[in-house]
Amino acid sequence: MATVVTKDEYFASYENLDVHKLLLADNPRMTAYKNAIMNNKDLFAGKVVMDVGAGTGILSIFCAQIGAKIVYAVEPTRLSSLIGNIAAENGVGHIVKVIPKKLENIRDGTVEVVDVIISEWMGFYLVHEGMLDTIITARDRFLVTNGLIFPCIAKLYAAPCQIPEFFEFWNDVCGVKMETVGYKFRESKCTIPEIMIVKPENLLSDGKLVASLDLTSVTINDLSTIGGRDLVFPANKSGKLQGICVWFDVEFPNSSQLSTSPRREPTHWKQTVILLPCCMEFDKSEPIALKITVRRDKRKPRWYRLEAEILNPEETEHELPCDCWLIKCIVTKKFILETGSY
Ligand SMILES: C[S@@+](CC[C@H](N)C(=O)[O-])C[C@H]1O[C@@H](n2cnc3c(N)ncnc32)[C@H](O)[C@@H]1O
Ligand SMILES: [Zn+2]
Repeated sequence: MATVVTKDEYFASYENLDVHKLLLADNPRMTAYKNAIMNNKDLFAGKVVMDVGAGTGILSIFCAQIGAKIVYAVEPTRLSSLIGNIAAENGVGHIVKVIPKKLENIRDGTVEVVDVIISEWMGFYLVHEGMLDTIITARDRFLVTNGLIFPCIAKLYAAPCQIPEFFEFWNDVCGVKMETVGYKFRESKCTIPEIMIVKPENLLSDGKLVASLDLTSVTINDLSTIGGRDLVFPANKSGKLQGICVWFDVEFPNSSQLSTSPRREPTHWKQTVILLPCCMEFDKSEPIALKITVRRDKRKPRWYRLEAEILNPEETEHELPCDCWLIKCIVTKKFILETGSY
């Protein structure tokens, strides 16, 4: 099998087997994909499947094992030279056809129209890495009309949170208060999102949907800015607003899902936190109003900027019914409960 050497830094990172070990050892990720494929024999048996970004070929092998007729394993890095052997090791070498190229470089007429596209393309806070563009290209070029995409829906969520690791530490360093350093430390960190695990007890509210992407229809143009709606989070306990926690879920055509929520078993994506340099105290039921926008970096299209704006809840529209303590929300909620109408 020909080896494709690429100078692209992004692809170079995927030549590192440590990265693939991390992916293959991510139990929620693996279980979600395996179940989405293996519990859907009818959707794969006898079908032509394209695995976009096959890596070690694990998803291609699941599809072949469940009865796919052909699986195109598209992978441009040196890993492509291993996929054929891995497939043969598992008795499906005759089904998995390796395409050692970037998806965008596959020439017209080289592959059959495909019934199903499968891919694990999600980056930190869903869109970082920009690989969703590749899935959209695959869909538009190779997927049969009404073909299936695994996963088919991607949802980005956010919630205000406490991050004691970045605040409390500076209150007492061996008996010395260091809040001056703490502030500078957080200020230096708040321009780059922090990838970390947020304990569920540190969420100040339930998550709200920032954006929902339907992979059957979303366009590359739609991905230049996502989110940007005003969101109101009624605090579910009193606490300190120290950051904004962002995570994503994806859904497969059979409605099974993979969630990276702080309330679920951690994945290698963990959660993404936008750190605030100083904190604001909130009481239970007090509304926290935020606008979260994810913007593609014009100079580095694989990168996205995560922006958070703290809004005045009095001047922000609240989604109804709302559990916050503002009189208008209490009255409206009572009316909705009594009349059963919105
Ligand atoms: C997150 S890994 C997933 C690997 C494997 N499917 C799995 O689930 O373990 C993404 C893979 O997509 C590949 N990839 C990224 N962009 C691609 C493109 N434009 N065309 C083909 N493969 C691509 C990367 O090289 C990488 O191996
Ligand atoms: Zn409200």
